[in-house]
Amino acid sequence: MLKRFLFLGAFTSILSTANSQSKIDPASIKEKMQWFADAKLGIFIHEGIYAVNGIDESWSFHNKKISYADYMKQLNGFTLKNYNPENWADLIKESGARYAVITTKHHDGVAMYDTKMDDLSIVKATPARRDMVKPLFDALRKRDIKCGAYFSLIDWSFPDYPGFLKDSSRYQTENDYQRWNKFRSFFQGQIKEIGQVFKPDLWWFDGDWEHSAEQWESQKVRNIILTNNKNSIINGRLQGYGDYDTPEQNFPVSRPAFNWWELCMTVNNNWGYQPSDKNWKTPYEIITIFTDAISNGGNLLLDIGPKEDGTIPEEEVKVLKELGAWNKRNGEAVFNTIGGIPQGHFYGPTTLSKDSTTLFLFLQGNISGNITLKGLMNKIKDITVLGNGAKLTHKIVGKISWSPIPGLVYINVPKDVQDKYVTVLKVTLEDPIKLYDGKGGLK
Ligand code: GLC
Repeated sequence: MLKRFLFLGAFTSILSTANSQSKIDPASIKEKMQWFADAKLGIFIHEGIYAVNGIDESWSFHNKKISYADYMKQLNGFTLKNYNPENWADLIKESGARYAVITTKHHDGVAMYDTKMDDLSIVKATPARRDMVKPLFDALRKRDIKCGAYFSLIDWSFPDYPGFLKDSSRYQTENDYQRWNKFRSFFQGQIKEIGQVFKPDLWWFDGDWEHSAEQWESQKVRNIILTNNKNSIINGRLQGYGDYDTPEQNFPVSRPAFNWWELCMTVNNNWGYQPSDKNWKTPYEIITIFTDAISNGGNLLLDIGPKEDGTIPEEEVKVLKELGAWNKRNGEAVFNTIGGIPQGHFYGPTTLSKDSTTLFLFLQGNISGNITLKGLMNKIKDITVLGNGAKLTHKIVGKISWSPIPGLVYINVPKDVQDKYVTVLKVTLEDPIKLYDGKGGLK
């Protein structure tokens, strides 16, 4: 009857065997991944010439919504004239994020820094005439925020890259190895220079789907990065040679079988600045998605799309500030925690302190009254409301004195202790959490 006890150690070890498509042994990267696992929140920044017309980043010409020539005319309107990296970094810090990832080059091939590999950069080809990346990394590092470089492997502008529009390509890689090799030394050269000049803590590749690991030389790319900085973290878009997985816009319903993962998601429906897109997620929606991600052992990489002049749209500023204020009140349940308990024990997101003696419950939808915890074997020391300090009472229901099966825990949550968005309860246990997930005495 008591064989079906689930101990914490059991579910962490299930996770460490996963990540089947990755060629990277999780044990070999565990140490360098620690800051990422603790970070929980990152801010993604899509800034590029597409903000001039406010159209889809790169995809607009690829999908033939605009001609390539007209798309590239946006170079003339990209100014960054109000770009203030210190303000960006302040806002990112205020949101509570521990890392940020910025576009160094999107699929359109326009480098957002002073590349020496060709002339297609905002430094040489736009009125901005400046590097966007370095001053932001400097400002972030001053605030102890890790720096990530988004880099598109795809480069639809490079004359020797095979792909171009959705229904046309320049050549087949297999038929023209000379051209492909030319492109390969070009993009690998850019990776080298980004590595040397900006020293990213994290590399966020994109577009690996257009070619195989052999064609990109993913293993070599990984080596280039790690030779330059052995602790760099690489996202999962390098055809199997990345360190963690990056589901995009889609919310996992059950816990992903990856050691480390990160949901990347937009605040409205687009990555870059698009004034016609008013479909802003509310702070409540962002916070519930965020807590769901961390409950399932992941991070949230929340994207903003600044205007061409470097101004961040006010709706995004507001969301980041609200998220930051919530993190200030409830950060103890977020940062430096681990994913929570399996579904069924509590109907909502949870996290645990690293030593598993504290369980945090996230109450979505402003629940008050009696909430229930199932299968908790431990004695509860005390329950408080984060950001408020109120102590809550609880009652154990249905515990039979001679049976080892635990009773239900009912916690009374009064209305007046509620958070503006998501209330967090801190349940302190007498010892590391132990859960019962059996069938209540039936075999
Ligand atoms: C994508 C897109 C892209 C966006 C990105 C962010 O798949 O190609 O435009 O930059 O991923 O996750």
